[in-house]
Amino acid sequence: MANVTRDFFIGLSNNKFLNDQAKRWGFRLGAEKFVAGTNIESVTNVVKKLNERGISCTIDNLGEYITEKSEAVAAKQELIKLLDKVHVEQLDCHISIKLTLLGLDIDRSFCMENAKEVLDVAKEYNIFVNFDMEDYSHYEQTLEALHQLRGIYPQIGTVIQSYLYRAEVDLEGLQDLRIRLVKGAYKETETVAYQLKEEIDRNFILLAKQRLLGDAFTSIATHDHHIINELKTFIAENKIDKNKFEFQMLYGFRTEMQYELAEAGYPFCTYIPFGTDWFAYFMRRLAERPQNLNLVLKDVFYT
Ligand code: FDA
Repeated sequence: MANVTRDFFIGLSNNKFLNDQAKRWGFRLGAEKFVAGTNIESVTNVVKKLNERGISCTIDNLGEYITEKSEAVAAKQELIKLLDKVHVEQLDCHISIKLTLLGLDIDRSFCMENAKEVLDVAKEYNIFVNFDMEDYSHYEQTLEALHQLRGIYPQIGTVIQSYLYRAEVDLEGLQDLRIRLVKGAYKETETVAYQLKEEIDRNFILLAKQRLLGDAFTSIATHDHHIINELKTFIAENKIDKNKFEFQMLYGFRTEMQYELAEAGYPFCTYIPFGTDWFAYFMRRLAERPQNLNLVLKDVFYT
């Protein structure tokens, strides 16, 4: 049953028609709980409040199904404005980018040019840029882009998904880069990915421990308290330096736990999406946690 619900919401997230329509609806279905407004001003206001609590942030300018060059150029310009704002306001914040937002599905070299323009500005301001990992059809291209750019831009990293069989091998080639470790949010086939939660969790813990014992910085991105507790013990037992990792969670999820971890002295970063293109992001969150459907029902019946 859980898999059927998951597949249903992932199916909705992949529906281009609904994604296009949702941009015109404004926030609906309770999405505003997980998306920090539609513009740079609204998202940076949220960042400031979290920074005051000692929480660092990463901002994601939402955008999927980019098929027109003009959309990718507009997204690039918005990212540059965002970097300007983060720099001017000296926010404790980096940015997360999906390469499809910059035109990866249109033309790879066009996307790389856009990425370089954004990375030039980020480099000037010394702001870290993370390439989010999308579905498996974009996996190789995202890693290739990272490897191509890392020599020029030292302040970049990406995401590795523990549901992929190849995650451990790929991490070996990324030992000197800052990496975010996640379980994986897309529906992948059993030819490339573990399907069972126990296997995905086991691999996540294995990879997180390997990374924590290595030299590079790791963002441990999960809302799973079982995993977080096991890793907290591991961190204490192995005296892992707090400069080498952070916990990350998504904006609007387990907010109390986010505050508790930060107050307990763990480096913590909240991932904050903003923008009008919220539908696919929100559907993936419903796929992970159908309990969030309560928010949808409240929105439909009480507004
Ligand atoms: P999971 O959903 O497996 O839940 C495990 C257990 O945790 C649940 O059974 C429950 O007990 C508890 N729990 C979880 N959420 C809860 C809640 N809200 N309230 C109470 N209990 C809860 N994916 C991707 O493919 N590419 C990417 O670039 C990213 N980026 C990213 C950044 C950040 C900061 C995060 C946190 C996640 C991502 N993801 C991602 C998404 C990721 O791959 C994954 O789909 C989700 O994090 C869901 O998996 P979890 O590990 O959070 O727990």
